[in-house]
Amino acid sequence: MNLIPTLSVIGCGRLGKTITRLFHEKQVFQIVDILNRSLKSSDEAVRFVGAGRPIDRISNLEKVDVILISAADASIKSIAHELRRTGSHDSAIIFHASGALSYHILDSLAERGALTASVHPMVTFSDPERATQDVPGSYCSIEGHPDARKFLGDAFRNIGSNPFDLGDVSKSQYHAAAVFVSNYVTAVVHTGLDIFTQVGFDREHWLKVLQPGIASIVNSLFQEGTVASLTGPISRGDVNVIEGHLKALKTNSPENLDLYRHLALATVPISREKGLAASESLNKIEELLRLPEFKTASKWGSGWAVWLLVFDPIGI
Ligand SMILES: NC(=O)c1ccc[n+]([C@@H]2O[C@H](COP(=O)([O-])OP(=O)(O)OC[C@H]3O[C@@H](n4cnc5c(N)ncnc54)[C@H](OP(=O)(O)O)[C@@H]3O)[C@@H](O)[C@H]2O)c1
Repeated sequence: MNLIPTLSVIGCGRLGKTITRLFHEKQVFQIVDILNRSLKSSDEAVRFVGAGRPIDRISNLEKVDVILISAADASIKSIAHELRRTGSHDSAIIFHASGALSYHILDSLAERGALTASVHPMVTFSDPERATQDVPGSYCSIEGHPDARKFLGDAFRNIGSNPFDLGDVSKSQYHAAAVFVSNYVTAVVHTGLDIFTQVGFDREHWLKVLQPGIASIVNSLFQEGTVASLTGPISRGDVNVIEGHLKALKTNSPENLDLYRHLALATVPISREKGLAASESLNKIEELLRLPEFKTASKWGSGWAVWLLVFDPIGI
């Protein structure tokens, strides 16, 4: 008798490969089928995971205890409908890994008796090899049928993740917050490198130069919190420095001026909470950041600037 529950994966890409390899290595599941759109891709995923049978049709899936749907978000609903049509997975636990979509996207399967859930691992899976090291010690949110939550919580705990119940939150709002602290950190570093490059520095070299500084910011952020760890001109209320930045960006890097203004405006309340800068200086910085002359430059050119000046009385 097989004592380890069986698992098949539909959509075994970056996240699927990582999680499934960990499930296999820790003997949490016996891996049965691995299904991608092309057999070549399924083959490659099986090689990475070290177990499973590569297939490319849902109708070829064997009956299993658990199915992970880790295809792109846009495909999850249609995969669920196709699984329902095959009709042989009605008693399985079926979950997806999207942070943006609720488990209710699997309702068509729940109606047939499947226990549905979603588990969102809070890790970046850009490189599956690296991500297998990052999952232990990380966190994952779980929502769905209580029995599925309990079962999957234990499974993820067994690969070193720390599951927590998401509760009845707006999944899109939760995911927007997650995107802020992951993808938009990348976007901010990327934009900073664009500007260093405009100044004349070598992009690749500067990514290396920035590494210890960024690591130190991240360390202090987690040790001291987001308020105490804030440094820089807005934490000191240095109006002249901010004015210099705005003028320089307006002249030399106008496409990044709008992002700078919005990030600076988001930094002012943190500085107020920190309490180091004089309130009057912070008021002046806010006024400066809202001046029409610094709203004019943008990637969208003068038409956008006219729109801002004419139709933006409250200021964005
Ligand atoms: N990447 C992350 O950092 C991350 C983090 C948290 C959550 N997630 C979630 O994890 C899920 C997967 O994301 P990912 O980044 O791992 O995606 P991915 O790397 O693009 O992989 C998607 C996989 O799904 C397969 N696929 C797509 N449509 C399919 C279909 N209709 N039937 C069968 N297989 C299909 C693709 O197969 P082919 O190779 O044959 O095209 C590919 O192997 C998403 O829900 C995402 O929101 C991702």
